[in-house]
Formats: sequence, C-alpha cells, structure tokens
Amino acid sequence: MADNKKNILVVGGAGYIGSYMCKCLSKEGYTPIVLDNLIYGHRQAVKWGKFYQGNLDDTDLLDKIFTEQPIFAVFHFAAYCYVGESVEKPGIYYENNVAATLRLLQSMIDHDVRKFIFSSSCAIFGEPVQIPISETHPKNPINPYGRTKLMVEQIADDFSHAHGLEHVCLRYFNAAGADPDGELGEDHQPETHLIPLVLDAALGKRPSIQIFGDDYPTEDGTCIRDYIHIEDLAQAHLLALQKLAEGRGGGKYNLGNGKGYSVMEVIETAKKISGRKILCQMVERRAGDPARLVGASQKAKEELGWKPKFTELSDIIETAWNWHRQHPDGYK
Ligand code: UFG
Repeated sequence: MADNKKNILVVGGAGYIGSYMCKCLSKEGYTPIVLDNLIYGHRQAVKWGKFYQGNLDDTDLLDKIFTEQPIFAVFHFAAYCYVGESVEKPGIYYENNVAATLRLLQSMIDHDVRKFIFSSSCAIFGEPVQIPISETHPKNPINPYGRTKLMVEQIADDFSHAHGLEHVCLRYFNAAGADPDGELGEDHQPETHLIPLVLDAALGKRPSIQIFGDDYPTEDGTCIRDYIHIEDLAQAHLLALQKLAEGRGGGKYNLGNGKGYSVMEVIETAKKISGRKILCQMVERRAGDPARLVGASQKAKEELGWKPKFTELSDIIETAWNWHRQHPDGYK
C-alpha cells in the first residue's frame, strides 16, 4: 500500500471504541493519528501514532493536521453518547454531534480528504416496528442523540452528491466488551451502560445494579439488546476502509449479532463469569428505552465480508470482566 494510504485520522481516538480502533489499525500496518479533546477520552488509551488534543471543529488545528501529513481517511468516533442527557440538553448534542461534525467535513473537503467512516447508531431507528432491524427499517429516532446520528448520515449523503465525499456509516447496536489482550477497556465518566455497571457491582464498587423495569413484553420482562464486541466493530471499520480504498463506494450497515439478551440474562452471565454475587434492585422503567433492539447484519456480511467473532454474550462479558478486574478504577 502506498504511504499516503496509511494515515488515518481517528477523531475520538482516546475513547472506548476509538482507542481500540487505533490498536487494530496499527496492527494492520496503518498509522492512526488521534484527535481528541479528552473531555471523555483518556490520554492513557492513546498508544499508537501521533496525538493532537483539541475539538473536532477546531479548523486551525484541522488545517495543521491535514497539512502536516497526508490523511487517507477520517474515522469519526467523537460523539456525546448519553441518551438521557441528550433529552435534557439537546443543544450540546446538536452542537457537538452535528454542527462540529459539519465543520470537520467541510475542513476535510477543503483539504481534499474525501474518505469518511462514521460511527452511527441503531438509535436512528427509534421504536422498532420490525425485528430484527435491517437497513431498510423506518428511521424515526425518539431522542436527540438518535436524531444527531441520523442528521450526520444525511449530511454525509449531501456531501457525497455535492463534493464527492465517499463514506460508510456503521450503525452499532450495543457496543460491548474490552480489548481481548486486556490493554484497553470501557471507562466512561459517568458510566450509564449496563455491562460495566454490572461488573462494578460484581467488584463491590456499587452496592447493586438497578434494573430499569421488569414489565416489558419480553420473556422475563426486562429489555432485550443486541451486544456487539468492539473487536467486531473495529474489524467492520477495517473492511469498510478496504472497500473505500478499492474505490467501491460507500454504504450504510447495521452491526449487531442478530441475537438479543435481556438485562436479566446479562446479569446472570456476569455472575457466572465473575463467580461473584451481584445484587439487583428493580426500579422504574428508564424513559425512552425500547423493549427490544436486535439487528440484522446480513448486508455487512455480504458486502463487506464481515463475520463477527464474539457471537456469545459470555465471551463478550469475559473480555470486559478481565479488563475491569485488572483496572477497577479504569484508566486512573
Ligand atoms: N439498564 C439497566 N440498568 C442500568 C443500565 C442499563 O437496567 O443501570 C438497561 C437499559 O434500560 C437497557 C439496557 O440495560 O434496557 C442497555 O442499556 P445501555 O444504557 O447499556 O444501552 P442502551 O440500550 O441504552 O444503548 C443506547 C442505544 C445505542 C447508543 C447508546 C448510547 O441503543 O445505540 O444508547 O449510549 F449508542
């Protein structure tokens, strides 16, 4: 591969999925270049390639990055991702996830960088009318977070028509697990995601895990989600990059395992893997939680040749447990 195809700008490369992406890019012979403002990211997680600290819409800094080295493609992981917060403070979500992304895209075009891989979300679909959720499912996001992701997909489409942007949108279902080598893991401040909270309870860092509702129309009454390992998400990015490098255009892909697990099943699996007690407390439903989200990923399998390796919840949780056990205080 020619050198100018090797540099990948990873925006949000100090975060949970972005940092692991950098490790995978590096293993595959690419050079990740990280741009992260470290509001949610961790400096300790940036171990591969150059690091620039700043916002994704800092056009002076982007000018510097794009002129200091040729950039082949931009991977964009830098979004605010708390659904509840997005309902209470929509302004910062539209500002960071949409307006700042728009400035990033404009800067890319100004510097003739036209390959873009965007971390989208199953939250763009809203309340499912059909399970499993395929790419053609109606897109009716029910919170600002989901709307920001859908808006960026639409902006990227408009930039393709107007400016020749080649892009791939990867719609993650529930990202989970940790680096199988135990080097990187999930450390959000504050943490709101189920698996890390359950593992904190197993470690005794929290007295119990709250279950948000047991009266959903599911087998055990708790919500069902499709958990997908960050290794499988990173592999999908590499395949999408290959597709862009071969000039095979863009696309939009749902990335899930096609299997749903309930909140109770997640807790039971974590108990088995950790061998620890996990106390549960049943509480009210959390606003905006659909009962069941399960993805159909046939398109990614057929067009990208994607084949998830972590298809069992227990294997996903095991990697997360290994990291949490070794890093009870996260990256601190
Ligand atoms: N849950 C609990 N107790 C908790 C935390 C979560 O019962 O303490 C339940 C939730 O109600 C939900 C399930 O566990 O049913 C998973 O919740 P997460 O918060 O881990 O993840 P979400 O399903 O809310 O994920 C959503 C979207 C993603 C999006 C993500 C953003 O599905 O697309 O929010 O953080 F990326």
